[in-house]
Amino acid sequence: MREALLAFVSQKGTLLEPEAVDYLLSHQDPLGRLERLFATIRPAPLVVTLRDVLTAEGIARSAAAHVGAPLRARPQAPGSSAPVAASFRRTSADAADHAPDIKVLRDITGQSTCEGTIEDFTRYFRHRFQTLGSMLRSRRELAGALDIAKAKRSTREVRIVGMVSEVRTTKNGHRILDIEDEVDRASVLLPADSPLASEVVVSDEVLGVVGTVNDRGLLIAQSLVRPDIPVSRAFRGTSDHIRAAFMSDIHVGSRTFLEDKWSKFLTWVQDGDEVARSVRYLVVSGDVVDGIGVYPRQDEELAIDDIYGQYEALARHLQELPDHVTVLLIPGNHDAVRPAEPQPALPASIQKLFDSNVVFAGNPSLLSLHGVRILAYHGRSMDDFVSTIPGMSYHRPLDAMKAMMRMRHLAPIYGGKTPIAPEATDHLIIEEVPDIFATGHVHSVGVEAYRGVVLVNSSTWQAQTPYQKMRNIDPLPARLPLVDLATGQAVIREF
Ligand SMILES: [Fe+2]
Ligand SMILES: [Fe+2]
Repeated sequence: MREALLAFVSQKGTLLEPEAVDYLLSHQDPLGRLERLFATIRPAPLVVTLRDVLTAEGIARSAAAHVGAPLRARPQAPGSSAPVAASFRRTSADAADHAPDIKVLRDITGQSTCEGTIEDFTRYFRHRFQTLGSMLRSRRELAGALDIAKAKRSTREVRIVGMVSEVRTTKNGHRILDIEDEVDRASVLLPADSPLASEVVVSDEVLGVVGTVNDRGLLIAQSLVRPDIPVSRAFRGTSDHIRAAFMSDIHVGSRTFLEDKWSKFLTWVQDGDEVARSVRYLVVSGDVVDGIGVYPRQDEELAIDDIYGQYEALARHLQELPDHVTVLLIPGNHDAVRPAEPQPALPASIQKLFDSNVVFAGNPSLLSLHGVRILAYHGRSMDDFVSTIPGMSYHRPLDAMKAMMRMRHLAPIYGGKTPIAPEATDHLIIEEVPDIFATGHVHSVGVEAYRGVVLVNSSTWQAQTPYQKMRNIDPLPARLPLVDLATGQAVIREF
């Protein structure tokens, strides 16, 4: 059997760590286990370790456990409820017994240096290219990647890394990507008859290409490689079952802010059930107020037409939360900070309106709650994903969130609807893989797991506005995703 295992892995072009061999041989159906492992880890690592085996088996177990409570929400129509478990599998811990443990590990607040000069842009894109490029070069499929100039002279299979400058489709259905590195550029053909022709590719993302250069200097792609996130990782959980609740797009100040739904939420969290008592954190991912002058004739849709008045009203609402809930609040495109991302935390003049149980951070922010890493991003770039990629929709924000994880970038498309400030380093790169990735903005809702990361898109507390009606945006308001910080299990509660 040992030989069979080794033959199997060598056929896959990899090696098996001796400890992994021993582990597999000591369990039933070692070859079946190995086959299932290879089905879950793609690409296969150079050496499959015991840890890979254990992690993959852990994932399989937790996936099986999720069958009854799928971590998936694909709202099909406005008003439909998300098919996600309504309750947690584990007994709740009391949030009141746990002191807050919050760190803002990374955001732009107080560190912005850019002035928007040409030099700033050059430096910004160079940082994006180099950081994502080095992630890609560490991928096995891109080992020995060449600079574009050198690759163009090669007659053999080549691997390159580049930033996409343009994507177009020919009249024969082929797709052409223009990609460039710091010295040269190349055109890459994704043949119409290959599955690559339907791959999602967007401008300004950094990717790897494996292919061969034809006699006209065109690189015919065999595969595209994304930085992506590791296939298998364990959720870095707390020991007790305390929970984080996620919301965004409260839009206080709007005429359609859902006062009655908000009161229902408050009543539940103030004297509710065991789950309500386990809510230690409320992560609010932007658009906390409706703002002023965000879109044409917004004044006609406002109940509070003063920006401070809007934040004061929000502060009063948050004051009613019980003491065991600490709020983390980042801005969105409706908030009173610069619209260009990365956005800093709300200014001191606004922060002082709130109680000390509210912690402010920038958009995006990498947060740590008891060691659980949360990447919170408002999600403005979903406008660009939806308008650029056929098949993406405002009702399926998780598709865009997965694309961000694969591209390791929150807002790859430059020059669309998401304004980006050319900071010295690209804060929109997903440098560290989080345990939870939270967004808002699209006024939908959903939770799902992607390669061990819990994806949460939080709902809105605003009903459809005339402006949204005009733009065909059908919100799914007053749904509250909750995540168990011990296990990563997510549920959605509707109010
Ligand atoms: Fe919003
Ligand atoms: Fe927004």
